[in-house]
Amino acid sequence: MSGTKATLTINDKSIDLPVSSGSLGPDVIDVKDVLAQGYFTYDPGFMATAACESKITFIDGDKGILLHRGYPIDQLATGSDYLETCYLLLNGELPSPQQKKDFVDLVTQHTMVHEQLTFFYRGFRRDAHPMAIMCGVVGALSAFYHDNLDINNPEHRRIAAIRLIAKIPTIAAMSYKYSVGQPFAYPDNKLGYAENFLKMMFAVPAADYEVNPVLAKAMDRIFILHADHEQNASTSTVRLTGSTGANPYACIAAGIAALWGPAHGGANEAVLKMLDEIGSVENLDKFLAKAKDKNDSFKLMGFGHRVYKNFDPRAKVMKQTCDEVLAALGINDPQLELAMKLEEAARNDPYFVERKLYPNVDFYSGIILKAIGIPTSMFTVIFAVARTVGWISHWLEMHDAPYKIGRPRQLYTGYTQRDFVPEDKR
Ligand code: SDX
Repeated sequence: MSGTKATLTINDKSIDLPVSSGSLGPDVIDVKDVLAQGYFTYDPGFMATAACESKITFIDGDKGILLHRGYPIDQLATGSDYLETCYLLLNGELPSPQQKKDFVDLVTQHTMVHEQLTFFYRGFRRDAHPMAIMCGVVGALSAFYHDNLDINNPEHRRIAAIRLIAKIPTIAAMSYKYSVGQPFAYPDNKLGYAENFLKMMFAVPAADYEVNPVLAKAMDRIFILHADHEQNASTSTVRLTGSTGANPYACIAAGIAALWGPAHGGANEAVLKMLDEIGSVENLDKFLAKAKDKNDSFKLMGFGHRVYKNFDPRAKVMKQTCDEVLAALGINDPQLELAMKLEEAARNDPYFVERKLYPNVDFYSGIILKAIGIPTSMFTVIFAVARTVGWISHWLEMHDAPYKIGRPRQLYTGYTQRDFVPEDKR
């Protein structure tokens, strides 16, 4: 919508601000001209701020819509696979059969890590949280590729994306093996992406290992459901880090660090801990009251979302997958029963209904991950493995167009200038 303007009037002064429209979603008001008039805009938490233009993912929080390059998440989760979704996020289109084969072959050729990388793990205590290991090891990857880290070279950027997508499962599985004192398992390039990950996680040299196809399919679907999500905290961190010209490995390590927080990717691990703490249906009312008590820091983990004020479409697919996997494995998990009772109670409680708090992607994912045999401490690592393609797709998109270093300002409410007081005068 060219030519539309918003007029900002402050006292006797009016500023015309350009308004732009995307293909979907709210129009945006370009506010950079307020600086020339001596103002900053103010939006802590970026509740109403579009930080960039993007073509990768669209979310409609009110309608519970999530599109990756225009394709609904439920169609991708049930009709596609993770590497095909990676191709879509990276390139903007679904691959032809040949393009898909070439992409899968390319990723498969990069699944191994430099053997020296294995020595990084030995610096950690065995009980180190795997996310601490992921932050360290992924950030260190740049030390192995300094000969092709020219971020202004599109080919260097592309190969870095492939390396990260290909190696992140290997690094993640190694962080688990290290924590349980088992030898690292090398990738098996005869296997698909999710199968390969599960084999690296659970195979031991002393025995043959066959990947359960039900678990591999569930793992692949979980990867799809976590692949990208617009300008969330960790993706925004990757973009901000990338805007300084940092190498892609440092940017992804920054994204991993941001994801770790319980308000973000750490929520899946927190959901299982919360269900353990609640223990049984008899305690639901007590914990719902805690979640509503402003003086209590307890929150219903896996509930609520900055954008979704309706069902998180990923949570719906996750719940369906949960039912399929537990039925296929013949598992009757009391925590799933408890989670469903908790969801039902919250969805009928005015506090949650008025605030439009629904289950998000993290509410049911932990139940499936537990059924697959993934330990709780690895839940956020799984999220990081899946989200690496989203992070690197946004990093590539940022570098494909002119960009400026991200540098927000502030509302300063500290001391005005005052003179230093020597120690003997204080
Ligand atoms: C992810 O951004 C993304 O896209 C993230 C993500 C992705 O794919 O990248 O979708 C992944 O991070 C999902 C969210 C996982 N986090 C959790 O499940 C943690 C529990 N949820 C809350 O911490 C919270 O809902 C957030 C952090 C997710 C969203 O917080 P907001 O947008 O800042 O909302 P808010 O805190 O302003 O909440 C509005 C009201 C508040 O009450 P009032 O002050 O209005 O009285 O709702 C309350 C909050 O106290 N509230 C909750 C709650 N979530 C919000 N109360 C109890 N339990 C909760 N879970």
